[in-house]
Order: sequence, then C-alpha cells, then structure tokens
Amino acid sequence: MRSDPKADLQHIAIIMDGNGRWARKRGLTRIKGHSAAERSIHDAVEVCGELGVEYLTLYAFSTENWSRPKAEVSFIMKLLSRFIKGNIEDLDDKNVKLRTTGRLNDLPEGPRQDLERAMERTSGNTGLNLILALSYGGRAELRDAFVQIAHGISTGDMDPSEITEELISAHMYNSDVPDPDVVIRTSGEQRLSNFLLWESAYSEFVFTPVLWPDFHAEQLHNALDQYRSRKRRFGGLE
Ligand code: IPE
Ligand code: IPE
Ligand code: MG
Repeated sequence: MRSDPKADLQHIAIIMDGNGRWARKRGLTRIKGHSAAERSIHDAVEVCGELGVEYLTLYAFSTENWSRPKAEVSFIMKLLSRFIKGNIEDLDDKNVKLRTTGRLNDLPEGPRQDLERAMERTSGNTGLNLILALSYGGRAELRDAFVQIAHGISTGDMDPSEITEELISAHMYNSDVPDPDVVIRTSGEQRLSNFLLWESAYSEFVFTPVLWPDFHAEQLHNALDQYRSRKRRFGGLE
C-alpha cells in the first residue's frame, strides 16, 4: 500500500546485518552473533512502541540465505523458535501483533508452527505490527504477484488493462501494510539485498556501520533523527 505522504512515521523496515562480523571480531563463531541479535530486536520493538510506530519489518532471513552452510541455517531456524517461545508472552503483553512476510512454507515445520501459534495468539492485538521477513525475497514476492495476476487473466477474471500499480501492490504478501517510510541497514553494507523491492520505491535509506548486535535504542534513535532530517518530495516540489 502506498504510504500517505502526510502521515507521520508509520513503518520502519530494518535489514539486520552484521551478526557474523560482530562475532568474528570477538573471536566467536558466527552463530554467536545471531544469538546476540535478540537484544537489538527487543530494543527496536521497544522504541517503536514508545514512538507509536505502527509497523516494524525486520529482515531476518532472505531467500538467498538458504545458500549458507547447513549448520548455520539450521541454527538460525532453531533460534527463531527460541525467540518466539521466549518472547511471545512479553510481545503479547505489549499488545504487539506478530506477522510475517515471505515464503513461510519454506521453513521447517517446528519454527513454522511456533510462528503460526504466536501469530494466532497475537492476532487480536492492536499495537505495533511486528513483521518478520522470513525466507523473504523481493523478487520472489514480485514473481508470486505476477503468477496470481497472470492466473486472473488466464481465467478471464481480469483484463490486462486493469493492471494498475495499485493492483500490483494489492498482490504483494501484506497488501494492507503501508510502504516503509525508512529502510535502515546496519553493518556498513549499502545495498537492498532483495528486500522490499517494490515497496521501497520512495523510502528513505539510512545506512550505518554499526553491526546489528550493537544496534540498540540509542542507535535506532540516531537513525530516525537522520530520517527526520530528510525532505521527502515523492517527485513533487516542496
Ligand atoms: C545478518 O547477519 C543475519 C542474517 C542474514 C541471517 P549476517 O549473518 O549476514 O552477518 P555478516 O553480514 O556475515 O556479518
Ligand atoms: C541481508 O543480509 C539479509 C538479512 C539481513 C536477512 P545478507 O548478509 O544476507 O546480505 P548480503 O549477502 O551481504 O547482500
Ligand atoms: Mg550479512
């Protein structure tokens, strides 16, 4: 959904990068970096709650991340289950609605069921929408949208002349979610790595060298200060 240019900060999206390097710098194995990521997630949820932000999307696992060594992938999947089980009570108390984006069916059954249970439990909550991007790829999302649209055309339910930008947005995984106002990436990399390709057309980008496990409330506030200093024009004039 196209974001409302007049609305306040509604949607923050974060590419949580740099766990492996954080661990290596400390002489630890990469997976220790993934474990250390939990506090940063906790802080991001907290800050969004304080600011009344409606949507926080966290890029946790990309469609490309399946190409990593099996042991690392399986550790991340176990960590996902642990994160959900360990935090669901607190998230629910905070009125957080847990959601996901991506190809959830790719996930192993255990974490998938944990996620589904947690989503069900928090489905009536009205506070922050915490959206975990899991087995998410922007190109996969676009491809899936194209397939649905093509299907509509092949069955005669839709005519190609009806394909508008709004219709394409309506076929994205979470079509009710406004486009991100800001996309933050930690770890110094300055690329999207297949994150929210369609939705980030007019997002502001904030890149920070801070590694994700070191990205706490203060660092998020700094990133949001940068966002607020920008002039968003959406192609128009001020
Ligand atoms: C981000 O940290 C977490 C995932 C992609 C799952 P990385 O694991 O990419 O850490 P670096 O970039 O190698 O330091
Ligand atoms: C992007 O980080 C994906 C996530 C943070 C989940 P990567 O570490 O996978 O991206 P590249 O490989 O540096 O582009
Ligand atoms: Mg990385």
